[in-house]
Amino acid sequence: MSSCQIDTKVIRPIRFFNGQCQMLDQRLLPAEEVWISYKTYQDVAEAIRTMVVRGAPAIGVAAAIGAWFGARDIEAESSWDFFQEFKQICAELLATRPTAVNLSWALERMKHFAESNLDRSIIELKIGLEYEALAITQEDEKINRSMGQHGEPLLANGARVLTHCNAGALATAGYGTALGVIRAAVEAGKKISVIADETRPFLQGARLTAWELQKDDIPVTLICDNMAGYLMRQGEIDCVIVGADRISANGDVANKIGTYTVAVLAKEHNIPFYVAAPISTIDLSLADGSLIPIEERDDREITHIKDIQLAPEGISIRNPAFDVTPHRLITAIITENGVVRGDYLNGLERVVKQ
Ligand code: MRU
Repeated sequence: MSSCQIDTKVIRPIRFFNGQCQMLDQRLLPAEEVWISYKTYQDVAEAIRTMVVRGAPAIGVAAAIGAWFGARDIEAESSWDFFQEFKQICAELLATRPTAVNLSWALERMKHFAESNLDRSIIELKIGLEYEALAITQEDEKINRSMGQHGEPLLANGARVLTHCNAGALATAGYGTALGVIRAAVEAGKKISVIADETRPFLQGARLTAWELQKDDIPVTLICDNMAGYLMRQGEIDCVIVGADRISANGDVANKIGTYTVAVLAKEHNIPFYVAAPISTIDLSLADGSLIPIEERDDREITHIKDIQLAPEGISIRNPAFDVTPHRLITAIITENGVVRGDYLNGLERVVKQ
């Protein structure tokens, strides 16, 4: 692993070409733009765990690249032995973060490629897995642009849009999911302004959403999480759009902690609440949101900001990183295969199987 400073205009937080991978260290934004080079799956796993890279689609992309690094370094006698070792590597990558299903989606796709090509030589399997990781990376941005096309008609000209966490270019291979819909509306000539929740405790809204929208000259106003209700009541928010980490078959949505609170507030104020997510985020194997595993993160994210201690030593802490918004609070779910409303059970199955 090594680090270097590189300036960039178009935001793509993962660079993967010629077998090389660099990731923008999102822990340091917006103060520093530092790119870290990765060569091993263990280092990629650590990058996902420590949130150098974060956001559901982005961790799927990173995991696919990590799986290829692991595959490249396997020394095995047969394709079968190779596959046994490869599955172990995928299991280690999968254990990094539990909530976003894109991680297992990407790793399943990598394993499926290997398993269905076991009649090939090990070298062919390694080359094929590199192509698969590259395809996952490149497809992600295209998917987001198509989600943008489906979602932008939902945003009226002049809309003031609240978003929570970062579901932007930084959370994907590029363009973003929720922020992708906003970008598409702006590209369609609409005047859109964004209100970004700061998103305690990791501050993805303050550090990342504000940074990337400002970089794209999209008007953005930052608020503390507890100000959303006041702004809604004042009539200053026209709709809400967020991303998702996992969507169960009935349309319940796991997303960054605080999303549920915003959804309840939106319902109270009759404000449309939209979710934008690729079909790789939809987990039809889970009947409802109560089955989605919720990650609990380190106490220190709450007790400290960087090295400054904010809370008394030894205080009891809860730090669930995600919550689940019931489907009845969601106006529509925007995917790359279309917009689903109302009957999520059938609608989500339709877009996934399309
Ligand atoms: O903990 P994070 O930063 O990985 O959580 C990210 C979110 O919750 C995003 O809102 C979600 O992944 C959608 S990103 C396109």
